[in-house]
Amino acid sequence: MLNDPVLVNDWHAVAEVDDLKKKNPLPVRLLGEDLVLWELNGRIHAWQDLCVHRGTKLSMGKIQSDCLICPYHGWHYDESGQCVHIPAHPEQKPPAKAKANTYKIQIKYGLIWVTQGNPPHDIPTFPEWEDESYRNLPSGPYHFNAAAPRVIENFLDVAHFPFVHEGSLGDPSRPEIADYEAEILDAGVVSEGIEFFQPNPDGTGVGAVVTYTYRVFRPLVAYFVKTKGPSFAAMYAVCPIDELHSKGWVLMSMNYGFDQPAEEIISFQDRVTGEDIPVVESQRPELLPLDLQEELHLKSDRTAIAYRKWLNQLGVTFGTA
Ligand code: FES
Ligand SMILES: [Fe+2]
Repeated sequence: MLNDPVLVNDWHAVAEVDDLKKKNPLPVRLLGEDLVLWELNGRIHAWQDLCVHRGTKLSMGKIQSDCLICPYHGWHYDESGQCVHIPAHPEQKPPAKAKANTYKIQIKYGLIWVTQGNPPHDIPTFPEWEDESYRNLPSGPYHFNAAAPRVIENFLDVAHFPFVHEGSLGDPSRPEIADYEAEILDAGVVSEGIEFFQPNPDGTGVGAVVTYTYRVFRPLVAYFVKTKGPSFAAMYAVCPIDELHSKGWVLMSMNYGFDQPAEEIISFQDRVTGEDIPVVESQRPELLPLDLQEELHLKSDRTAIAYRKWLNQLGVTFGTA
């Protein structure tokens, strides 16, 4: 197991609940480990994707007789992970240690969250998503050939908007970022009062000076809300597939624009994130440097500085240098 107790003992979004309707069992990868997700009668399981007999991927198997069946020699694993039937020796009770390595899962916000450890805290709450006066729009997953902390830091960075998202999230003739504060609290990073002009802040085509509040709830789960005027919020859950590959879901929640088709708002987000991907993938070093002597930092990078400091305090090593 990798040496990152903080991320091992954390919840990570690994798939959408609906993905299992398309493929069951479903292979996914988390923190460099192959997992299999499978569903039986509405119950979802997450296991190491490995048969203890000869190391075959259980995700290549099938679900039958209330069991996940290994594709190689047909061992039957019940929902607890115990092997209950070995076809070559039907009379023999499988040994107790013929058992899959099982992980905890939770479903939240349409996503399947898995942990390989024992998290001391729950999946973060997305307040707007739980508010019935808001409209919820999931988007993603967005695939990055990049380290997850680089992907989160890009989400926290407003100074890139006029250049990477010209005409939508930013205007190159108005690139200034007024000063703001970023703090590290027990619950993560908070940056408030980040004000600047956006030509089309949320895909509805109406320009405005917006005020962002950013929060980083967990090392790989971040959030922002635009706090003045109509409210647009987003939570970003980034799955660390392995050190240099990530996938993120942007969950959007807004209390206006109810007549705008969902596909338009989601395709706006697809375009915005599509603009980020090549920039983030180009960053070197690939692992996010936590030593603040590395790279250059400005006042407008306060959120990123706080994020790097917080990761360093927590001792996050995966995807960092
Ligand atoms: S490798 Fe799975 S049953 Fe043999
Ligand atoms: Fe961006």
